[in-house]
Amino acid sequence: MSEDVLPRPFHVAIIMDGNGRWAKKKRLPRLLGHRAGIRALERTVRAAEGLGITHLSIYAFSTENWKRPETEIKGLMSLFRFSIRRKVDEISRENVRLRFAGKKEGLPGDVAGLMNWAEEKTAANTGLTLVACLNYGGRAEIVDCVNSLIAEGRTTPVMEEDITGRMYAPEIPMPDLIIRTSGEQRLSNFWLWQCAYSELYFTDVLWPDFGPEDLKRAVEHFLNRERRYGAIK
Ligand code: IPE
Ligand code: IPE
Ligand code: MG
Repeated sequence: MSEDVLPRPFHVAIIMDGNGRWAKKKRLPRLLGHRAGIRALERTVRAAEGLGITHLSIYAFSTENWKRPETEIKGLMSLFRFSIRRKVDEISRENVRLRFAGKKEGLPGDVAGLMNWAEEKTAANTGLTLVACLNYGGRAEIVDCVNSLIAEGRTTPVMEEDITGRMYAPEIPMPDLIIRTSGEQRLSNFWLWQCAYSELYFTDVLWPDFGPEDLKRAVEHFLNRERRYGAIK
């Protein structure tokens, strides 16, 4: 597969699922599954750069994940804190631009602060854009867009572009390919507005086991799909 066959920009979105089941299989605490998930993410970012993917978005924590036990939520927040703080320099060296999508207000103040710091620090980078969806919900995002329009005092009819332009990360192109690991075949509130014409790819691989070969396989599947956008080809 050569880079010139890939569309540009090319946005791959991943629902990183199966950390808990991976840990359970190994009789480990769930949090170790999440830690192994961070390592899978590091591998995937490197592989994405190599494949010529321009935008990679990852679903890290949904607006519904607050329903989990407090200990797991606390563990995940610590992991986010630690990973952002420790990885930003490395990410910067690789010319990766880090963006976040989701409701920063609902997160612990220091985590939201680190997110702003990391976005500022990597804003001028020109390589891969990594969009981390944290406290993200597709429905919440659409509701937030509608509320911004109301707050702006909008009285004329709303167009699709008005919604698209008020998304959490409006400069990010629509996802071309959405991958979900762990055998589940649903979106779980991910990129609901943006997924309208995304190609979907499901794999049984649990997220902590995901690697460059799995990403390559998903992209190859994508290249065999015919996108019609409602028209006749
Ligand atoms: C995905 O793995 C990570 C998050 C939702 C934070 P899960 O924690 O959902 O893993 P399973 O689905 O229980 O295996
Ligand atoms: C989706 O996974 C959210 C993330 C990967 C962050 P979940 O494990 O929360 O989704 P459901 O509950 O199985 O739909
Ligand atoms: Mg899950």
